[in-house]
Amino acid sequence: MESRYKKYQTIERLNEVEGKEVTLRGWVYNIRSKGKLHFIILRDGTGICQCVVFSGNVLPEIFESAKSLTQESSIIVTGMVKKEERAPGGYEIDVKDIEIIQITNDYPITPKEHGDAFLIEHRHLWLRSSKQHAIMRIRAAVIKAIRDFFDGNGFKLMDSPLLTPNACEGTSTLFETNYFDFGKAYLSQSGQLYAEASAFALGRVYTFGPTFRAERSKTRKHLTEFWMVEPEMAFFDLNDDMELAEDLVEYIVQFVLKTCQQELKTLERDTAPLEKVKRPFYRMSYTEAVDWLIANKVPLKKYVDGKEVDIHPFPWGEDFGTVQEEAIMEQFDKPCIIHRYPTDVKAFYMKRDPENSKVVLAMDMLGPERAGEIIGGSQREDDYDLLLERIKQHDLSVDDFQWYLDLRKYGSVPHSGFGLGVERVVKWISGAKHIREVIPFPRMIYRITP
Ligand code: 4AD
Ligand code: MG
Repeated sequence: MESRYKKYQTIERLNEVEGKEVTLRGWVYNIRSKGKLHFIILRDGTGICQCVVFSGNVLPEIFESAKSLTQESSIIVTGMVKKEERAPGGYEIDVKDIEIIQITNDYPITPKEHGDAFLIEHRHLWLRSSKQHAIMRIRAAVIKAIRDFFDGNGFKLMDSPLLTPNACEGTSTLFETNYFDFGKAYLSQSGQLYAEASAFALGRVYTFGPTFRAERSKTRKHLTEFWMVEPEMAFFDLNDDMELAEDLVEYIVQFVLKTCQQELKTLERDTAPLEKVKRPFYRMSYTEAVDWLIANKVPLKKYVDGKEVDIHPFPWGEDFGTVQEEAIMEQFDKPCIIHRYPTDVKAFYMKRDPENSKVVLAMDMLGPERAGEIIGGSQREDDYDLLLERIKQHDLSVDDFQWYLDLRKYGSVPHSGFGLGVERVVKWISGAKHIREVIPFPRMIYRITP
């Protein structure tokens, strides 16, 4: 027996029912009246559509009751679907009947301009606005593209735990919690270490979930809770890792272009730069990037006694910040991978380059259009003794990492992986100005509500 809900019609699929009678359920996005006509812009979550109420087509009490409709009142509308090029979405409903579920009073978000602080405070309602709606649909498409890409390329989803006994990406950004008799536990900064164990069991895996960073950074690109997909592959070296990262990003961007044209239009996103996101991308070693910074007189910005000072020439060995990343990316119309970073600025698990132990086999993918770092990854240290030495150098507890060291004891193989930040990618593709707009309910150092 077919379930009833499967017959519910949606605005998104009106093209399938042109000339037929439909029933749509939704909310009034806007209403205006002119004599014997009401024009209701209805939104149902899948799209918006103009519903025309003509007094001659409905019972007098229905026409009268439509006068009381307000923004965000919930209604059920029945009528005939007509093609109408000028209407948003290309279709219009000739209304026969309206059932009012609730009349909304004083909806706080009106079509007039509101400040950012007000909107984020009302995030639970702001999500209904057309631009936020479009961003959320692009987010869903990005996540679908990621899953399709990995599932279609022989990867298995292997979830890593979120409550962990130790750090993965440095101890300074850990969220702590009490964990029964064990003392402290931490919210996961990355599922990678567990993904490595999973890769040794299943070959190619990906872990996909929320990650937590007690980041002090108040930028447009940092959240304290964000979603990361982390593939991990046995027998992949750094080069395989970089090629996989490029294939993934190309796939995501092209998938969004294919499936989200309407959303990109709502956001007034210029899609020309996105069309270009096809392999080959650019690549530069960290050392080449430093040479470029020096040649182009881009300094290191440092805080000395609370004051920002410029250090020239950029010193080899320092990590890049927004200033350097944006300067480097200014010349590129596609993503660029920077590889082989200084050992001292990167995580303990990265494998040192056999040709130069001052650098690790790491890679960061930077996006064009000021997208910043969208991917961070590396080939992993697969030698027991070298990894042990790095754990000690980083002042991490050898006991906590014994299980991780086991992977280097029982059938160790070269392996690699990376993490892609979902929100960084959605922000870039959608053109949103702040990362808080690309996750349903953002968590930042100064916000945990709604
Ligand atoms: O570069 P990160 O810290 O790398 C890792 O966590 C590795 N363990 C991944 C791996 O190799 N499996 O983070 C990966 C990506 C960044 O490139 C960025 O896109 C995103 O996660 N990211 C953030 N996104 C939003 N807010 C933050 N505070 C972020 N920190 C990292
Ligand atoms: Mg990184």
